[in-house]
Amino acid sequence: MAGRMQDKVVIVTGAGSSGEGWSNGKAAAALYAREGAKVFAVDYRIEAARDTQRVIESEGGQCVAFRADVSSASDIEDMVEACIAKYERIDVLHNNVGIVETGGPVETSEASWDRVIAVNQTSVFLTCKHVIPHMLAHRSGSIVNIASIAAVRWLGFPYLAYSAAKAAMVAMTSNMAVQYAASGIRANCVLPGFMNTPLIREPLAKTYGGNVDSMIEQRDKLTPSGKMGDAWDTAYAALYLASDESRYVTGTTLVVDGGLTARCA
Ligand SMILES: NC(=O)c1ccc[n+]([C@@H]2O[C@H](COP(=O)([O-])OP(=O)(O)OC[C@H]3O[C@@H](n4cnc5c(N)ncnc54)[C@H](O)[C@@H]3O)[C@@H](O)[C@H]2O)c1
Repeated sequence: MAGRMQDKVVIVTGAGSSGEGWSNGKAAAALYAREGAKVFAVDYRIEAARDTQRVIESEGGQCVAFRADVSSASDIEDMVEACIAKYERIDVLHNNVGIVETGGPVETSEASWDRVIAVNQTSVFLTCKHVIPHMLAHRSGSIVNIASIAAVRWLGFPYLAYSAAKAAMVAMTSNMAVQYAASGIRANCVLPGFMNTPLIREPLAKTYGGNVDSMIEQRDKLTPSGKMGDAWDTAYAALYLASDESRYVTGTTLVVDGGLTARCA
């Protein structure tokens, strides 16, 4: 099935991985490239983006690594300018960056709240603000936002700022979908459930009592399918939403959670 993204220019933010293995962004970047896309892999740790570039190039794909902090407006302007200078257009904006900090209103410091909102939510405003004019110029584009089921459910621990930012992503996605529907630009969200990616190891293991193996066991058990998902489950959902196969799909959320949100008891 190669070629589902043939010659499309795709920006993936957070295209590196915060540890060993496949993150959601790294897997999506690799999958887009396998399907023929020209990938602009963005991360604030340039080495992480370069690692993704190396993987893609070793498979014969096309990728450029770029350093940007998605919470910085000037970095995002530079990112868009550099992508246009290299590839002359942007077909897909894949907003993948997300950080997790736990706590409810009492435990969350103002600094933590501001950081999580800036990195998870304001970043989406900034990337869309600077990318959409280029999509409008071609009257075509697909925005794929990686939110979380934390936008719609309690996940066993308080994630106030994270949940608020992810819920805002869902709202921003449907808002933009309607505004730009007649201009050929689509916007959709993926809502991953419990995924076994490098992100969960450090910040979440603490929440689950400090033991990574026990955290994985607990998260597997909570999922009706009996196992957490992984980065490829998120990436394949994103691939569908990014590609022309979903040309009549906009303003929606695609839940990828092994049945977790469907369960009541
Ligand atoms: N892993 C899960 O269980 C899960 C569940 C639901 C949603 N998600 C979402 O999936 C997305 C990716 O998660 P992951 O598990 O692959 O994470 P990850 O931490 O492995 O990868 C994220 C990448 O983003 C980069 N990054 C972080 N802050 C950045 C910034 N300010 N600017 C640029 N790059 C930055 C990191 O360096 C890292 O390479 C996040 O939005 C996360 O909320 C993950």
